[in-house]
Amino acid sequence: MKRHFNTKEELRDYLNLHSNEKSIGFVPTMGALHMGHISLLKKAFTENDVVVTSIFVNPTQFNNQEDLINYPSTLEDDLKLICEISEEIVVFTPSVQEMYQENVRSKNYDFEGIDLYLEGLDRPGHFDGVGTIVEELLRIVSPDKAYFGEKDFQQLLIVKSLVKQLQLPIEIISCPIVREANGLAMSSRNSRLTQTQRDRAVFIYDSLNLAIELAKNNNPQQLKKLIEQRFSKEADFDLKYFEIACVDNFLPVTEFEANKHYRFLIAVVFHDVRLIDNIGYTHFVIN
Ligand code: PAJ
Repeated sequence: MKRHFNTKEELRDYLNLHSNEKSIGFVPTMGALHMGHISLLKKAFTENDVVVTSIFVNPTQFNNQEDLINYPSTLEDDLKLICEISEEIVVFTPSVQEMYQENVRSKNYDFEGIDLYLEGLDRPGHFDGVGTIVEELLRIVSPDKAYFGEKDFQQLLIVKSLVKQLQLPIEIISCPIVREANGLAMSSRNSRLTQTQRDRAVFIYDSLNLAIELAKNNNPQQLKKLIEQRFSKEADFDLKYFEIACVDNFLPVTEFEANKHYRFLIAVVFHDVRLIDNIGYTHFVIN
């Protein structure tokens, strides 16, 4: 049976016929699938009767045209990888025309301030683009659960805020970061690096781990300075930001408070490839 669709209408018709009384899990992607995406699909597959995934490189979330043009596309391989999990997974691969018609524009959202820092600051308009496509996809698929990776930690919070604002009855499931054996966070963009460069790019994850170690004896401002200094010595890395945010409100912090949870987040341009990563930290203080 055909489970690969290019139009909203075909996908809706299929779901109307085959998902009655069944739970739907949805995994939106931009393709060039790797084990990070696969982990989301596998989780969705174990938790739902019907799994839908989308592969769509969304133009409105790219503030940099070169990044959009260079974004990898490996549809044949993606479809094979999906089939290896299950031939029952429904795949939606719309065109830009299908999703936006003639109006390739973002809507404007109020993300409760979550979009004012980090990726939002470094990539103007990015989260409005993400919000626009995620809203549209969620409305088409109407899943019970939608799966997002912690790799894009800020995006995860943006999507949670979106679903809350729009009052969509969808549970957003966060999934842990999948890494290469050496620790580098898996990303579709890694395919634009040579193996030697990927080995070198582990410097990013190592820096996050170093920051965790140093957090016991340094406040966030000192930590930021130490990490910035570390990167300033490495000519091939262009550090975009290293920031520490409190997970409660996602605001950058200047002091750690006892037993609170934080995220250390980093963005780097390395050989023209933009890489992001993050790690959780709890500031344990024993009285
Ligand atoms: P994309 O970068 O293809 O990622 C799709 C999903 O896979 C996202 O939820 C992302 O966080 C998750 N993911 C990517 N790398 C991961 C890793 N190493 N470990 C765990 N999860 C990982 O994110 C997007 O696409 C787009 O912005 C999208 C949400 C599809 C909207 O266009």
